[in-house]
Amino acid sequence: MLKLEHITKTYPGVTALNDVSLTFEQGEIHAILGENGAGKSTLIKIIAGAINPDPGGKIIFDDKIYTQMTPALSAQNGVAVIYQDINLVTPMTVAENIYIGRNFGHIYSKRRLNKMARELFEEFGFNLDPASPVERLSPANQQMVEIARAISNNARIMIMDEPTAPLAVNEVEMLFDIIAKLKDRGVTVIYISHRMEEVFRITERISVLRDGQFVQSLNTKDTNRQELVKLMVGRELNESFPVRKTPVGDVVLEARDLTGNSVEHISFQLRRGEILGFAGLVGSGRSETMELIAGAKKPDSGEIWVNGKKINVTSPAVAIAHGIGLIPEDRKEQGCILFNTVKFNTSLSAMRKLTKCGFISGRKNTAMAEKYREDLRIKVPSVNQMVVNLSGGNQQKVVLAKTLAADPDVIIFDEPTKGIDVGAKQEIYNLMNELVAQGKAIIMVSSDMEEILGMSDRIIVLCEGLMAGELPRERFSQENVLHMASGL
Ligand SMILES: Nc1ncnc2c1ncn2[C@@H]1O[C@H](COP(=O)(O)OP(=O)(O)OP(=O)(O)O)[C@@H](O)[C@H]1O
Ligand SMILES: [Mg+2]
Repeated sequence: MLKLEHITKTYPGVTALNDVSLTFEQGEIHAILGENGAGKSTLIKIIAGAINPDPGGKIIFDDKIYTQMTPALSAQNGVAVIYQDINLVTPMTVAENIYIGRNFGHIYSKRRLNKMARELFEEFGFNLDPASPVERLSPANQQMVEIARAISNNARIMIMDEPTAPLAVNEVEMLFDIIAKLKDRGVTVIYISHRMEEVFRITERISVLRDGQFVQSLNTKDTNRQELVKLMVGRELNESFPVRKTPVGDVVLEARDLTGNSVEHISFQLRRGEILGFAGLVGSGRSETMELIAGAKKPDSGEIWVNGKKINVTSPAVAIAHGIGLIPEDRKEQGCILFNTVKFNTSLSAMRKLTKCGFISGRKNTAMAEKYREDLRIKVPSVNQMVVNLSGGNQQKVVLAKTLAADPDVIIFDEPTKGIDVGAKQEIYNLMNELVAQGKAIIMVSSDMEEILGMSDRIIVLCEGLMAGELPRERFSQENVLHMASGL
C-alpha cells in the first residue's frame, strides 16, 4: 500500500533518517519503534508531506511514485495523522471540526452536519456530542474527533504518534477497539509508542529504527520484548527496576489539609531518602496537587511545611528558593522555552548558582548544560541547538535537566518517563535512586503501573480530588492501586 525507498533527511549536524526503506501492507497494524531521536516522527512527517526528504528517495502509493509529498497530496492518497499532544482550541463544534474544509459541492446546514456526525459515531461507538464545542473536550475525546475526521475523509492509512500518552486506562481500551474496527475496514494503521505491552497487544508487524537507520521489520508474533529492546538500543538491556537500599530520614516536606485547584484535604509527609508515588486516574488531581506544592497555583486553604517551618509558596520561584522543584508533565506548556537553546533552558532555574555580581557565567552555564546533556543522554549536536528542534523525548529530558540544575531538596517528577524510550527510562530510574541516596526526597506522579509499583516506597492514591488511601510496600499490587483509584 505504501512503500518508502531510500529516504534520507539531514539537518545541520544531524542525520534524522539515513537511507530508510520500508513497506506497509494494506490493513496491517504496523508499529514503528526506536529510541528518542531515532527518526520516527521525522518519517511520519515525510509521509504526511509536512517536511521534505533530501533528494534521492521515493515515496510510493500503490503505483504512484513521488519524490516528496505535500499535505494535500498525502491526504489525496488517504493518509491521516493523529499527532501527539492534540490541541483543538477553535470555537467550532465537534461536527464542524470533522467536516471543516470539505467540499461537498454544496453547503450543508448545521443540523445536517450533526446528523452525519451522529451516524458516524454510532457506527464506531463514539460517545461524543456533535454539537459540543471541541475546545472543552478531554484529550481523549479530542483525539476521537481527529479519528472521526480521518474516517469521514476515507483515510486508508492512519498514522498515530504516541496516541495513548494522554489517555486513561479505560480510554486506551476504547482506542484499541477503534483501531480494530479500522483494521476490519482495511485501513492500515502505523502506530508509534514507547509502551511495549501495547505494541505486543495490537500490532502485527514491527519496524525498528536506530539512529535514523532502518534496523529490521519483524512479525510481532515471532519476536519478544527483549529482542526488540536489543534492536532498538543496540545492546542488551536489563529492564528490571534497580534495587534501592537507601535509609529513610527526617520529614522534609509536609502538606496539611491542602484544598483548592480542584483538590481537597490533601495531607501527607515526605521524608529524605524516600520516593513517594502518587497514583490515580487521569483527572484525579495528582498534577493539581503538585501545582499547589510547587507554587504554580495557590491553595484556598491548608499549609505547606519544609524542614519543620511553615512556608508561604506564592510562586514557583519561591518554591525553588525553598528547595522544591517540579518537573511538569506538559513539556510544551510549562516545561521549557521551545524557541530557545538547550543551554538557556538548563540555566533557567539555576540562575543563582550561575550568577556572580549580577553577571551570568557563560562558562559555568555551558559546563552545566554539557553535564546534563551527558548524564541524561540528551541527543543534540550542540547545547546551542533550539529545543523546538529536538525529538519529543529529548525535549522531556531538557525539562528534567532544567529542574535538576537548581539542585532542589524535594523533586517532584510528574510522569517522568512519558514519551521516554526504554534505555533512557532506565537511566532516569538510576538517577532517581542516586538523588534519594544523596538525601533528597522525591515525589513521583505516574500513570505507568510498572513504574509506580517498581520505584515507590509508598503510594498515595487519589480519586476525584481526594485522598483515596495510602499503600505501604507490602500491599503494593496493581489490583490495590486500581481499586482505590476507582473509588471503590
Ligand atoms: N528541525 C530540526 N532541526 C534539527 N534537528 C532536527 C529537526 N527535527 C528533528 N531533528 C532531529 O532529528 C532526529 C530525529 O527526530 P525525531 O523527532 O524523528 O525522533 P523520534 O524518533 O520521533 O523521537 P521521540 O521518541 O523522542 O519522539 C533528532 O535527533 C532530532 O533532534
Ligand atoms: Mg517523536
